Amino acid sequence: MAYNLLKGKKGIIFGALDENSIAWKTAERVHAEGGTFVLTNAPIAMRMGQIKDLAEKTGSEIVPADATSEEDLENLVSKSVEILGGKLDFVLHSIGMSVNVRKGRAYTDEKYDFTAKGWDVSALSFHKVMQSLYKADAMNEWGSIVALTYMAAQRTFPDYNDMADNKAYLESVARSFGYFYGKEKKVRVNTISQSPTATTAGTGVKGFDGFIAYAEKMSPLGNASAQDCADYTVSLFSDLTKKVTMQNLFHDGGFSNTGVSQEVIERFSE
Ligand SMILES: NC(=O)c1ccc[n+]([C@@H]2O[C@H](COP(=O)([O-])OP(=O)(O)OC[C@H]3O[C@@H](n4cnc5c(N)ncnc54)[C@H](O)[C@@H]3O)[C@@H](O)[C@H]2O)c1
Repeated sequence: MAYNLLKGKKGIIFGALDENSIAWKTAERVHAEGGTFVLTNAPIAMRMGQIKDLAEKTGSEIVPADATSEEDLENLVSKSVEILGGKLDFVLHSIGMSVNVRKGRAYTDEKYDFTAKGWDVSALSFHKVMQSLYKADAMNEWGSIVALTYMAAQRTFPDYNDMADNKAYLESVARSFGYFYGKEKKVRVNTISQSPTATTAGTGVKGFDGFIAYAEKMSPLGNASAQDCADYTVSLFSDLTKKVTMQNLFHDGGFSNTGVSQEVIERFSE
């Protein structure tokens, strides 16, 4: 069901790789709610991904940008304002990658070049995106910027590796930039802490199947899907959440506040 919540709103959506991506589902949902946007991803992902199909489906243009490149981001912001015919109302940062995870390095055996690269892509890029928008004065008042994160920023999930540190940094950037963006331009900045979700990035984490099954059993409402996340993101882009900013918002079916569930107890009583 669509409610026209984003009618007339314009934005940028980072991170749609394939139809499982959280950003992909969000783009479809934003489109259904009347929003228009530019799609972007790293040039290398464009070659692998199916982003053109999504662009066609949603009547969007694609502007490639490596989210670690200030030059690419400046170009993306100015082109988006030009393409969409005015300043922006929403931006989704849906980007994550750890080279240590990809190469199977344990948290206690990090290769720091890998760590630095993963941090740049997954965490610092959020600052870079916002600084590009801020310097270009590209956001409308009461605009909304959202990035995606995971609860490993607060609690230890051993196989989440250095992504846990990246997510802690990302959430801190949301608070710090959110202060300045709120004060000076009335723009809100939040992170959504999402349930484990079966996507390319998600399933790359070692032990993902056990991870997602455990979370499902622990969450009173069950895991939040990518589609659920798209719905929640739309609410944060809409005018119905104008005073929500600098928050890390758990979107996990109740997992983060559950000590133990009956299902898990029963499993251990067998
Ligand atoms: N899947 C999960 O279990 C889960 C849970 C909580 C949070 N998240 C977060 O959700 C976000 C989206 O991930 P997803 O699960 O949809 O997976 P995904 O693999 O579909 O999306 C990750 C995206 O990051 C992009 N990316 C990587 N390097 C980039 C760069 N240098 N510049 C621009 N883009 C780059 C990829 O091309 C890809 O589109 C990530 O921040 C992820 O950490 C995922």
